Amino acid sequence: MILDGKDCAAKWKDEIKNKVLELNNIYNEEITLAICVVGDNEASKIYVRNKVKAASYVGITAKVYKYESDITEEYLLEEIEKLNKDASVHGIIVQLPVPKHMHEQRIIDTISPLKDVDGFSTLNKGMLFAGAEAILPATPYGIIKLLKSYNIEISGKEALVIGRSNIVGKPMAHLLLQENATVTVAHSKTKDLPLVSKRADIVVVAIGRAKMITTEYIKPGAVVVDVGMNRDSLGLCGDVDFKNVSNIASYITPVPGGVGPLTIAGLLENTVKTYILQKK
Ligand code: GUN
Repeated sequence: MILDGKDCAAKWKDEIKNKVLELNNIYNEEITLAICVVGDNEASKIYVRNKVKAASYVGITAKVYKYESDITEEYLLEEIEKLNKDASVHGIIVQLPVPKHMHEQRIIDTISPLKDVDGFSTLNKGMLFAGAEAILPATPYGIIKLLKSYNIEISGKEALVIGRSNIVGKPMAHLLLQENATVTVAHSKTKDLPLVSKRADIVVVAIGRAKMITTEYIKPGAVVVDVGMNRDSLGLCGDVDFKNVSNIASYITPVPGGVGPLTIAGLLENTVKTYILQKK
C-alpha cells in the first residue's frame, strides 16, 4: 500500500491553516518566516519555492533573503543576528547546503533557538536527544506523523535507519526510539547491509543514492520510507527501487509525493510552535 504523503500533508496543512487563523485573531499580526538562501543551488531553489508556496497557503508570510555565494560567514552571521532581534520575524531558516567556505553548524547555532524552525541547532538537537520537548527536525517529524496517520505500529518493532545525517538519520533514530522501536542506524561502513536490513520491520532510507535499496534489502511485509530525492535518466526518484520493492513491502512512500510534502508541513507546524513560544 502506498503511504500518501501528499494527502497526509494536505490534511496537516489545513489544520495548521486553522491554527494560524486562530492566532491571527488573538494577536492581530502576521506570522513571519525568514528564509535565508546563500548562492544558487538548484535543489535549494525548488525547496524554497515550495516552502514559500505552502507558507502562503496556511497564512504564514515567508520572506526570502538571497545572498551571493561569495559573502563572508561574518556577514551572514550579522544578518541572522538582525533577524533574531527583529520581533516581526518568528522563524528563521538558513537553507542548506551553504557554500563550502562557511561553517554550517556555527551558522545554525547563531539562529535563536526560539526561532530555529528547522530544529537543527545544538540546543534543539540536545533537547530531542534528551527526550525533552523540542522543535523537531521537519523530515523525521513528518515521517512519524505519516506512520501514525496510517495507524502503523512502531512500538516494539525493529526499525532501521539507513543514513546518519544530522538533518534526517540521527534525529529519525531518536524519534523512533521515543516511539519505543528497537532502532539500528546503518551507514556507508555497515557490513552486510542486506542482512541487517532484512531484519527490519520499518526501514527509513536517507542515503542520497538513486534506487540503491532493492528487494534484496527488504523483508516481505516491511514498511519502507524513502527520504531520497535523486534524478536519474527517467526523472525524479528516491533511494529505493520503488517498482520492485513496492511488490513486497506492506507500505511504501513514493517519490515524489511521499516524504517531501510532509517535510514542508512539519516546517510550517514548527513555525506556529515557535510563534507560540515567543508569545509566552
Ligand atoms: N536542505 C535540505 N533539506 C533542508 C531542510 O529541511 N532545511 C534546510 N534549512 N535546508 C535543507
